[in-house]
Amino acid sequence: MSDIYPVRPEFAAQARINRDSYLRDYQASIADPDAFWGQAAERLQWMKKPSKIKNVSYDLDDFHIHWFEDGELNASVNCLDRQLAERADKTALLFEPDSPDQPSYRVTYRELYERTCKLANALRNLGVVKGDRVTIYLPMIPDAAVAMLACARIGAIHSVVFGGFAPNSIADRVSDCGSKLIITADEGLRGGKKVPLKANVDAALKLPGTNSVETVLVVRHTGGAVDMQMPRDRWFDAVVEDQPAECEPERMNAEDPLFILYTSGSTGKPKGVLHTTGGYLLYASYTHEMVFDLREDDIYWCTADVGWVTGHSYIVYGPLANGATALMFEGVPNYPSVSRFWEVIDKHQVTIFYTAPTAIRALMREGEAPVKKTSRASLRLLGSVGEPINPEAWRWYYDVVGDARCPIVDTWWQTETGGILITPLAGAIDLKPGSATLPFFGVQPALVDANGERLEGAAEGNLVLLDSWPGQMRTVYGDHQRFIDTYFRTYPGTYFTGDGCRRDADGYYWITGRVDDVINVSGHRIGTAEVESALVLHPKVAEAAVVGFPHDIKGQGIYAYVTLKAGEEPSDDLQKELVLWVRKEIGPIAAPDHLQWAPGLPKTRSGKIMRRILRKIAENAPDQLGDTSTLADPSVVDSLVSERKVK
Ligand code: PRX
Repeated sequence: MSDIYPVRPEFAAQARINRDSYLRDYQASIADPDAFWGQAAERLQWMKKPSKIKNVSYDLDDFHIHWFEDGELNASVNCLDRQLAERADKTALLFEPDSPDQPSYRVTYRELYERTCKLANALRNLGVVKGDRVTIYLPMIPDAAVAMLACARIGAIHSVVFGGFAPNSIADRVSDCGSKLIITADEGLRGGKKVPLKANVDAALKLPGTNSVETVLVVRHTGGAVDMQMPRDRWFDAVVEDQPAECEPERMNAEDPLFILYTSGSTGKPKGVLHTTGGYLLYASYTHEMVFDLREDDIYWCTADVGWVTGHSYIVYGPLANGATALMFEGVPNYPSVSRFWEVIDKHQVTIFYTAPTAIRALMREGEAPVKKTSRASLRLLGSVGEPINPEAWRWYYDVVGDARCPIVDTWWQTETGGILITPLAGAIDLKPGSATLPFFGVQPALVDANGERLEGAAEGNLVLLDSWPGQMRTVYGDHQRFIDTYFRTYPGTYFTGDGCRRDADGYYWITGRVDDVINVSGHRIGTAEVESALVLHPKVAEAAVVGFPHDIKGQGIYAYVTLKAGEEPSDDLQKELVLWVRKEIGPIAAPDHLQWAPGLPKTRSGKIMRRILRKIAENAPDQLGDTSTLADPSVVDSLVSERKVK
């Protein structure tokens, strides 16, 4: 079904971009990227204006990606100092706590500036210098933005680790980039439950590879008891208290790193996606303004966590660089009730709301009543991100949440892309439920088949991007070769997204999901290899294979096949223990939804696990197994099919 929701004339009448300007500017952005992005770069405050705009080659013999390469700027100056002239008393961040019984509060641009400068001075005093790495493991509180901006101010590279990750995952990320300092909090709060952040950091720092860390700064958030290990651990308040509220910003080259953010790939450990200062900031701020059709008085709410790229680009850097008011919510959609999101919208008169399909599906299951008891009259634009949105959820979002009044921007992008690449622009592009529609300015999507042949017209294939955009990642931290091999070698001359995609007769793009061994669970990327490595660390496990399967709420769930060591007996208790084991090793988001005992795994004669078959068994589609004749032992499949049980 592909019904069309035409551009709403009321919206188009005052939109930043309309049909004509979209087509004209898109053509211009492709025909002359230097002119287009050179002009767009005027929106930033440069310490030295760039004279060179784009210098990119995807040719493997001469590979490089540079944007604005002789420009100099500081990201925190763009997000803070620049706003002081006209917006010093405007709310930059609006904090809504986990529980509605706790007070919400506002942080103005001036306060954010001062808090950032104080922390930046404190970091310098603690010996952090340009290029050093700082890990941030915080709840969704304004101090998370302060911490990121303070790093940016002194040229330190931040690596934010999602507060839901377990000590092992923190340790991996700390050791990979050799962090000198960690900023954490006593505890976080989510859905009324405490998250032991400091204790997790303590446990992480006992693991090998983490002795680069000299200092741990601890924000007092819940006031819960923590174990302070002197002289390593310092209270955040105490170190910032006496610092001056001004701090000389570091002059950064446009291509100097701004941050590292770890994300899962199909193989090995998570990769440190590295973004640089000029191109990233420009792209985050430009897309934020255009895609959300931002106005000065908008109250903008993105429900993502700052631990993910959406939080980086569309809670912190994009909105603050645009002088917007962004809401930061520490809680979850269903606490204390399933009306929480809609109540927060009314309480703060939110105008733009940006969330993930998994949250929409979960709330849709609760029916209309919890939504309809709230007003939501302040809303004017809705957004979706993180995974494909099924048309049914899209329509519910449109009709029930938005009262058939607010356009939905279904924004496709990735940690690697820094910002939104395929999206409707609500004043310009007709909507189709489930489609991310058309490319943003400067973005050239294309579809290729398995052999790399370009597919024209209506077609389905692998999604690649033919040319660079300023927000593109520049390298995998510490492993440039992995960057080139992962993204540029599969289909030479293009950036390979890892996504499958269909293009319809109108040229609209429909993302169909990952084509590699990455599972998208509730919009979070989990590599099958990571879950498998965690499982085989258990002393009773001989082998494990993990695949994704369709899940009503999460989009995809995690299905694990486990072979036990000889002499070990499968049991329900062991099954629970293994699920808990993965939670403890990686974090709750990686816990398998189903775990099936596998006396053997389907392998080719050369020993390669045939995941295609395991996916079909997990999907409960044993009639679609395809050719199993190349298996070393085809009988393995029959036993897996007959043993499959969903709990
Ligand atoms: O498969 C695509 C899916 O999420 C992947 C990127 O995940 P991550 O790097 O964690 O970034 C998530 C937030 C940008 C993509 O490769 N994805 C993201 N947005 C969409 C999507 N799939 C379909 N539609 C979307 N709007």
